Amino acid sequence: MALKAVVLLSGEGTLLQSFIDSREQGLPLEICAVVSNRPNAGGLVRAKRAGIPTHNVDHTQFAERASFEQALSDCIDKYNPDLIILAGFMRILGGPFVDHYRNRLINIHPALLPKYKGLDTHRRAIESGDKEHGSSVHLVTRELDSGSVIAQVKLPILPDDTPETLATRTKMKEHLLYPEVVRWIAEKKLSLCSGELRWQGRVLTTPIIFNPDGEK
Ligand code: GRF
Repeated sequence: MALKAVVLLSGEGTLLQSFIDSREQGLPLEICAVVSNRPNAGGLVRAKRAGIPTHNVDHTQFAERASFEQALSDCIDKYNPDLIILAGFMRILGGPFVDHYRNRLINIHPALLPKYKGLDTHRRAIESGDKEHGSSVHLVTRELDSGSVIAQVKLPILPDDTPETLATRTKMKEHLLYPEVVRWIAEKKLSLCSGELRWQGRVLTTPIIFNPDGEK
């Protein structure tokens, strides 16, 4: 049976597209709905084109974060999803929201966590002289970009990389990594339950390093 997920986004939605495309190639995922906090997010157009119900919960229409997040939860909970996938959702989520979706809420962050939490990750990696960069899929907890890291994909930083070129190459890898992690969850190879990550029953103590060119 397909895993039921709600996708939250704010922007272009190329990650959403990678789920839509992977679904067509057999990813056992039902995207019940796509929810955006920005009415003009390109991701909403992609969702509609794929026949996925869309919702707009515009944060600017709420006086405080708590009421925005309550509206967001009300919208999500109608679908009773197994998983909530943050795919470029550009709002920090508060404790009650995060607790409500404990072990069901995942995010992808364009850095090799725990390095470079927050914004501007590509520039920071280049300016630090790093030789390697990447992206991390992690559980969402109360602290920003700090939940257990499930899996990472890595790529070299090239001598003439700019933040823009590095961002583009990182995103291409993300489009392979994120659907793959969701596949592991859907196929029950990976479990997020009971406060710890388990890979085929064994507790995962370090992130899975995903190599799109080969096997895990
Ligand atoms: C991705 O690069 C992801 O790492 C970050 O937001 C971006 C979303 O891109 N969290 P898109 O809107 O899916 O194209």
